[in-house]
Amino acid sequence: MQTSQNTPFVYQKPIRGVILAGGLGTRLYPLTKVTNKHLLPVGKEPMIFHPVKQLVSAGITDILIVTSTSHMGDIVNLLGSGRDLGCEFTYRVQEEAGGIAQALALADNFAAKHRMVVLLADNIFEYSIWPVVEAFRNQPKGARVLLKQVGDPERYGVAALDEQHIIAIEEKPENPKSNYAVVGAYLYDEQVFDIIRTIEPSARGEYEITSVNNEYIRRGQLEYSIVEGRWTDAGTFESLMEAHQILLVNENKILDPRMAL
Ligand code: DAU
Repeated sequence: MQTSQNTPFVYQKPIRGVILAGGLGTRLYPLTKVTNKHLLPVGKEPMIFHPVKQLVSAGITDILIVTSTSHMGDIVNLLGSGRDLGCEFTYRVQEEAGGIAQALALADNFAAKHRMVVLLADNIFEYSIWPVVEAFRNQPKGARVLLKQVGDPERYGVAALDEQHIIAIEEKPENPKSNYAVVGAYLYDEQVFDIIRTIEPSARGEYEITSVNNEYIRRGQLEYSIVEGRWTDAGTFESLMEAHQILLVNENKILDPRMAL
């Protein structure tokens, strides 16, 4: 693609969406003993509707869902082709819960060299992430993550920042270098699959998305945006309650951030 020096870069191809809904949900036992965490109710709908609506609100309608063997049937029964939600689904099975980066590796053929927005299916945002997707379209290459200040950073990937950039991300640090959590929405260019192939499992035996993001930092290609409005994951009983509160008030609608101005 050619751009003159005076023309700002705009990524022209359609961006694809990936929703990661595997994992074991062990922190929510026994709620997740016979069902998938992302099928639990949040507000008035199953949790997984939320990341789908987020992507659709950002104009992304070609969406891959990754989930475990045991729950794929229920997920397909619920979501179907995507017609009712204004999008088109592709499905892939993650055979064992080997980490977020392992789940994302399954998207390689689906992505077909397009950029992607990757959402963890248990992350709930009050506002649409469309402005972040637009910022990513104007980014010549690399990746973009979203940060949110939290009271319990040790539960998350945590960003260490200088004046302008993320200089490192630590996964669940005992002594966090900031209170900026890296939330579960990641925007990647085509390099991501080559990067995943180079990473090693962490001490807890998972292929960590934080390792992928640190490689983008090493390449000088990781940008960030700050999450507008309320955000939570829904992976613990307390955060599941917060997710209910965020979505119930707005009847599971995703707000346009322009309303926050
Ligand atoms: O919520 C944001 C946090 O999510 C980030 O700050 C962390 O950097 C990131 O590692 C992740 O941490 P968690 O410990 O909360 O991840 P969890 O294992 O709960 O997985 C989050 C979602 O990712 C889960 O709802 C489904 C998907 N997942 C996870 C694993 C481990 C998969 O699809 N496959 C997997 O193997």
